[in-house]
Amino acid sequence: EKKKDDGLRVVFIGPPGSGKGTQAPLVKEDYCLCHLSTGDMLRAAIEQGTETGLQAKSIMNQGGLVPDEVMVNMIKENIQTPECKKGFILDGFPRTVPQAEKLDKMLAEDNKKIDHVLDFSIDDSLLVRRITGRLVHPSSGRSYHREFFPPKVDMVDDVTGEPLIQRSDDNEEVLKKRLDSFHKNTTPVLGYYQNKGILSTIDASKSAPFVSHTIKSIFLSTLHFPHNASIFK
Ligand code: AP5
Repeated sequence: EKKKDDGLRVVFIGPPGSGKGTQAPLVKEDYCLCHLSTGDMLRAAIEQGTETGLQAKSIMNQGGLVPDEVMVNMIKENIQTPECKKGFILDGFPRTVPQAEKLDKMLAEDNKKIDHVLDFSIDDSLLVRRITGRLVHPSSGRSYHREFFPPKVDMVDDVTGEPLIQRSDDNEEVLKKRLDSFHKNTTPVLGYYQNKGILSTIDASKSAPFVSHTIKSIFLSTLHFPHNASIFK
């Protein structure tokens, strides 16, 4: 059983549009964790015009993968921040087996490890509609859907009132490449965690509230980790 102050370190793995970025902010609130999305970090780097951003931009727009070394360094910097001390949700990382191995090594240096990994399992055919209908609020990472989760006011973020955008890689052509990359490079990462006995598969085709409920049940049953943020206070 996990003890107070142990923290909770979890990884969300799933194809584009499987709901990782939708579920992470909800789980983060409930368990007092930080949410580290490498996709959001890369988009922020592009916006800021950093060297990494310049390098990542065309790769992302073509649905490819940014080099492992760049990504590992990015995670290393962010995992060490004070907000992540009590645990984190990794969303979009690791995406390759070398990234997973480097992550384990990095955590082991601090006597820590990944507690659990969730596999957001969903058929490719359901993802086109999710991805092409997605609208995002870039600065918070909040996402909406034209059909499934429309904002209260068309093209405007519910919380800040700022405009929503469509991601430049959210079209059918690039999605196909992102899916190919997922099957080729990221599916082996699921095997890596399965071998460690810390993988749970969830049915990501179900409604968002149902998926949230499933995640909480898994944390409780496999980690004996109650849905109660006060455990950390
Ligand atoms: P990244 O930003 O991580 O994109 P991704 O993995 O393709 O994931 P998405 O953000 O598209 O999907 P999601 O699962 O978060 O879906 P969401 O919850 O929004 O990466 C982008 C790029 O960066 C990569 O292609 C790569 O180039 C690069 N990169 C990033 N990390 C890297 C790494 N580690 N190594 C190398 N390169 C890296 O949901 C989608 C839509 O569906 C939304 O509109 C949502 O409202 C809706 N929705 C969600 N759940 C449901 C539901 N249950 N029912 C109905 N609709 C739903």
